[in-house]
Amino acid sequence: KILILDFGAQYTQLIARRIREIGVYCEIWAWDHDPAEIVAFGAKGIILSGGPESTTAPDAPKAPREVFELGVPILGICYGMQTLAAQLGGKTEAAVEREFGYAEVEVISPCALLDGFKDHAGSPPRLDVWMSHGDRVSAVPPGFKVTARTPSVPIVAMADEERRWYGVQFHPEVTHTRQGGALLKRFVHEICGCRMLWTAANIIEDQIARVREQVGDDHVLLGLSGGVDSSVVAALLHRAIGDKLTCVFVDTGLLRWQEGDQVMAMFAEHMGVKVIRVDARERFFAALEGHSDPEAKRKIIGRLFIEVFEEEAAKIENVKWLAQGTIYPDVIESAGSKTGKAHVIKSHHNVGGLPEHMKLGLVEPLRELFKDEVRRVGVELGLPHHMVYRHPFPGPGLGVRILGEVRPEYAELLARADHIFIEELRRHGLYDKVSQAFAVFLPVKSVGVVGDARAYEWVIALRAVETIDFMTAHWAHLPYEFLDLVSRRIINELRGISRVVYDISGKPPATIEWE
Ligand code: XMP
Repeated sequence: KILILDFGAQYTQLIARRIREIGVYCEIWAWDHDPAEIVAFGAKGIILSGGPESTTAPDAPKAPREVFELGVPILGICYGMQTLAAQLGGKTEAAVEREFGYAEVEVISPCALLDGFKDHAGSPPRLDVWMSHGDRVSAVPPGFKVTARTPSVPIVAMADEERRWYGVQFHPEVTHTRQGGALLKRFVHEICGCRMLWTAANIIEDQIARVREQVGDDHVLLGLSGGVDSSVVAALLHRAIGDKLTCVFVDTGLLRWQEGDQVMAMFAEHMGVKVIRVDARERFFAALEGHSDPEAKRKIIGRLFIEVFEEEAAKIENVKWLAQGTIYPDVIESAGSKTGKAHVIKSHHNVGGLPEHMKLGLVEPLRELFKDEVRRVGVELGLPHHMVYRHPFPGPGLGVRILGEVRPEYAELLARADHIFIEELRRHGLYDKVSQAFAVFLPVKSVGVVGDARAYEWVIALRAVETIDFMTAHWAHLPYEFLDLVSRRIINELRGISRVVYDISGKPPATIEWE
C-alpha cells in the first residue's frame, strides 16, 4: 500500500483514485499527521501531494523527518517536489508568474520513473503534461540529478536513484497529463513493488471477512434508501451475514416513481434480503402540511425520517449493529487538521443523523472506498448497472422539488413527470451524458388549451446539468427535438400539467436543486 501525505492540493483525492485504479490500496493523511502512525502504517511508498503554500514562507508545511528514514520510495508532486528540494538541501524560489496549463517536458537524463516514455518518433523522450504552480525548484539537493526540463522551467523533474526519491513539478494525476497514468504505474508497480491486489473482487472478499469478524453472530440493521451506497452495503452484508441483516426501507412518499416497489423487487424478492417496508407517506404529508420554507421542510423530513426509522428499529430484537453507507470522501482528513474530520454519522438519508441512545455499534464496509469503487463493487456483487450508475437523488427527495407546500397530488404528478423525463433520457442514450437530471413541480397555474377546452394548470420545469463535482455546473444542452418530445409526453399524459419549461441557469449562481 501507498501513503499519500496531503499538503492541501485540490488534486489530492485524484492521486488516490488513480493509484487505486491501477490496483493498489492507498490512503490520504494530512502532512502533519502523527509521524509514529505514519511509520506504523507500513507503506511501500510515499507520495507528497501538491499544495497551495510556498516553501519559501517561514512556516511552510514540511514532510515529517521520519518519512525520509523509512527507506521506501518517495514521489513528490508539485509542492511535494518543492518541499523535497527545500528540506533535503536544495533551493526553491518564488516564480514571478504562475505557470498554468499544458507544457512539453523534455527528459534530459534517464531515471526509473521517466524511462520508457519515448514517443513514436523515438528520442528525445518527451511528455505532454499539465502544470499548475507558482514556485519552482532552482537547485536540486545533494544526491539528486535533474531529469527533465521545459523551455521555461529548467528543473521540472529530479531523481535520486540511489534512495529512489523522485520529484515532478507537473501533475501526473490529471488526465491532461497524457502519460500520467503510466508514470504513476511505474512508481507504484516497478519502483515501490506494489502488486495489483486492490480489485472489486478482493475488496468484497476482504470486507466480508472483516464484517463477519466484527459482528460475529449479532444482528445488523441497515436503512435502505434505494441510493447507491446503502444498496451496495445491503448487497455486501447480505453476502456476509445473510439473514442476520435486516433492512428498513421507509417510503416517505417523496421518492422516485415506484421506487418502493423496485427496492422490494430487487432486494427482497430477487436477492432474498430481509427488508421491512414502512409506508410512512401519510405521516410525511401530514407533517409537511402548511410548510413552505425550504429549510423548515428539510428539517421536518429529516426529523420524521429518524423518528420512523427508530420506531421500526425498536421492534426488531437483538440488534447490536447499525450499518451505514459512509464512504471515503466522508472521512478523509484534510491537510492542516491534526484530528481529522469528526466521525460523522451519516444517516442513509443524509438529512439528519441517527440518535446516539440507540447504542449500536457501527458497521461501515464502504468507509475506505471512493464512489467509483463503490459502484464497481456494486456491479461485482450483481447489482444492475442502471441502479449502481444512477444520478444522485437528494435525501429530502421530492420534498425539495415541489416548490413551497408539499401535497400528495403534487408529489404524484412530479414523480410521473420525472419518470417520463428519465425514461426518455435513457431511451435516447442521454442519461449517462448528463450528471443529474430531474423535474421540478412549480405550484403556479398557467393557461393552456387542452383539446377544445381552456385549461388553467400547473407547470413542470425540467433541469439537467453537467458537472464534475456538483459545486459548479452547466445546464445540459439537450437537443430541442428531445425536449420537445418530453414536453409533449408530460402534457399529454399528465392531467394537471399544461406547461413545461427548461431550466437554463448555471451554478453559480443558481443551485442545482430549486430549493
Ligand atoms: P445544490 O442544489 O446545492 O445541489 O446545487 C448540489 C447537489 O446536492 C444535492 N442536494 C442534496 N442532497 N440532501 C441531499 O442528500 C439535501 O438536502 C440536498 N440538497 C441538494 C443535489 O441533488 C445535487 O446533487
